[in-house]
Amino acid sequence: MLAGKIALVTGASRGVGRAIALRLAEEGADVIINYLRKGKAAREVAAAIEAMGRRVRVVKANVSDPADIQRLVDEARDFGGLDIVVSNAASGVMEPVLAITEKHWQHTLNTNARAFLTLVQKSVPLLTARGGGAIVALSSSGARRVADGYALVGTSKAALESLVRYAAVELAPRGIVVNAVSPGLIDTDAAHFLPNADELLAQVHAATPAGRLVTVEDVADVVAFLCSPRAKMIVGQTIILDGGYDLIYR
Ligand SMILES: NC(=O)c1ccc[n+]([C@@H]2O[C@H](COP(=O)([O-])OP(=O)(O)OC[C@H]3O[C@@H](n4cnc5c(N)ncnc54)[C@H](OP(=O)(O)O)[C@@H]3O)[C@@H](O)[C@H]2O)c1
Repeated sequence: MLAGKIALVTGASRGVGRAIALRLAEEGADVIINYLRKGKAAREVAAAIEAMGRRVRVVKANVSDPADIQRLVDEARDFGGLDIVVSNAASGVMEPVLAITEKHWQHTLNTNARAFLTLVQKSVPLLTARGGGAIVALSSSGARRVADGYALVGTSKAALESLVRYAAVELAPRGIVVNAVSPGLIDTDAAHFLPNADELLAQVHAATPAGRLVTVEDVADVVAFLCSPRAKMIVGQTIILDGGYDLIYR
């Protein structure tokens, strides 16, 4: 379904981003894999994509730095352009509201929200040059709900979801579809930074109507769909992907 397309996935060395990069390649796309620290892991993802017969490029870049995003998009131009951009990389400081510092705010908001804005601004000319495309951002339920220590990441994701709506409306006339996916708790490295991670994973598992935790493959399926022509009339939405967890009153 994505044959001939070129996709960029930020934070594709591990976890959700890795699964998305692999899925887009399975669907036929060539893929640019961005990472920050785990070069070996990123190169392993690249090797798996190459083994599928797709083209791949690996780019180390810090998405919290606009100059690095410019370099990432320059690499994409050199690679042939862009049809799909997945803004997945995230980071953040876990502190209660009263302990948040200016530095925490800059780090978290720049990585999780400003990175999306910069990526959109810099990649739209490439998407437009190829007749449109799709942009997908990864959000989380902390944008709407309150979890221990999650104030900054939640706030950054709320800003991200809002930007997704604004960008979606501005870019729809250019044939660029912008949406977000908000998965429930997934057992990745990131989940283990949460307080009482194992207990939380077990609790969410038990309380999910669908009977299991969301997996990285579940997320990759939805992202691939949002990048496909079948989803072109879904504009500016945040798709909740949590097996029904959020529906239950607690
Ligand atoms: N896991 C969950 O429960 C969950 C739930 C809802 C939403 N999400 C969202 O899903 C996305 C992926 O989460 P995950 O669980 O897969 O996270 P993860 O396992 O911690 O992986 C994070 C990825 O982002 C990259 N990264 C981090 N900071 C970066 C930066 N400044 N510049 C470039 N790359 C950077 C990392 O690269 P290196 O390893 O190379 O440094 C890594 O590939 C995030 O947006 C997250 O908020 C996750």
